[in-house]
Amino acid sequence: MEKSEILEWLRDRKDYVSGQEICEHFQVSRNAVWKAVEQLKKDGYVIEAVRNRGYRLLDEAAEVYDRRELLSRLRTNRIGREVVFYPTIDSTNLRAKAEAEQGAPEGAVFLADEQTAGRGRRGRSWNSPAGKNIYFSLILRPDVQPEQAPLLTLLMALSIAKALEEIAAEQNLPEDLRPRIKWPNDVVMGGRKINGTLTEMSAEPGFVHYVVIGVGINVKKQEFPAELRETAGTLEDALGTAPRRCELTARILEHFEGLYENYLKEKTAAFCREEYESFLVNKGREVRVLDPAGEYEATALGIDDEGQLLVRTADGQTRAVYAGEVSVRGIYGYT
Ligand code: BTN
Repeated sequence: MEKSEILEWLRDRKDYVSGQEICEHFQVSRNAVWKAVEQLKKDGYVIEAVRNRGYRLLDEAAEVYDRRELLSRLRTNRIGREVVFYPTIDSTNLRAKAEAEQGAPEGAVFLADEQTAGRGRRGRSWNSPAGKNIYFSLILRPDVQPEQAPLLTLLMALSIAKALEEIAAEQNLPEDLRPRIKWPNDVVMGGRKINGTLTEMSAEPGFVHYVVIGVGINVKKQEFPAELRETAGTLEDALGTAPRRCELTARILEHFEGLYENYLKEKTAAFCREEYESFLVNKGREVRVLDPAGEYEATALGIDDEGQLLVRTADGQTRAVYAGEVSVRGIYGYT
C-alpha cells in the first residue's frame, strides 16, 4: 500500500473512512494504516481520527509538493505512473535523460522543487528557485519518425494551456486574462511568459530512442532576475491565487495523455489544430520572423499539420515557419 493511495481515498470520500475499511481494502494491518496516517500528518495534511468513525482528511491548506501528492492526484494510465521527486537537483532534464539511457519506461516523470542548473532553450539557463515553481521532465518513447517528434512540444503547450484554462474558468477570469500560446510553446497569461518547455531527443535516422519533455512553470510570486523582469510572470499574479503545484501538474499530465494517444495514432497535429489555434496568441497578428536568411514581417495564419507556423507575407505568399530554425516575435510584445 502506498500512502498516496490512502490519501487519494480520503480525498475522494470527503468523509470518515473507518480504519477497518482501509485495512480490508489494502490488505494491511491497522498498525500499518495508523503509521501511514501519521506520516501524512507529518507531511502537512490535517487528518482527523475519531473513535468509531475513522479517519477524515480535513485541511489541505498547506500545499504539499512531492511524489506521493502527485500520485494521489493523477488519473492517468501510463503518463506519470512512475514519479521520482527531488527536493533539489541539477536539472530534471539531465536526470530524465540519464534514466532514459538506462531504460526508464515511457511515462516516467522527474519532478523537482528546485534546480541548481535548470536548462532553457538555446543554451540559456532556467531560473529555478526552491518552493515557488514546477519543474518536471517526462520520458516518452513514441513510435514515430524523428521529424514528427517536435510536435510533442506543441502538445505539451496545449496541455498546459488547457489545464490553466480550466482553472481560469473556475475562477471566472475575464477572457483577456486567460492563457494563450505564443507559438510554438510558450504559455502566456496577462501578457507575460508563464512557462518554458525544453524538448530533447535521442534518435537515429528513422527511429526515436526517447524524447524528454522538460517543463518549468512559474507559480508563486517571486523576484525575477533583472533580464526576465519585463517578460516573465507567475500564475499567482495572473490568477490572483497560486494553484497547488501537484494539482496543476496532474491536470497537465492528464491532458497530455489524451493528446498523446491521438498523436500516436495520427502522427500529425490535424486532430488538435483547431484547439491549439484557439489559444494561439499570434493568430491573425503581425509577427516578425527572425529568419537567418533575412528577417521579415508577416501575418500569422495558424499552424499546419506538422505544427509549423503558417504566415502570409506582404506579397501574399504563404510560408511555413519551422521552430528551431527561426523564432517569431510578436511585434507588440506578448499580447
Ligand atoms: C525555455 O527556455 O523556455 C525552456 C525552459 C525549460 C525549463 C524546464 S524546467 C524543467 C526542465 N529541466 C530543465 O533543466 N529544463 C526544463
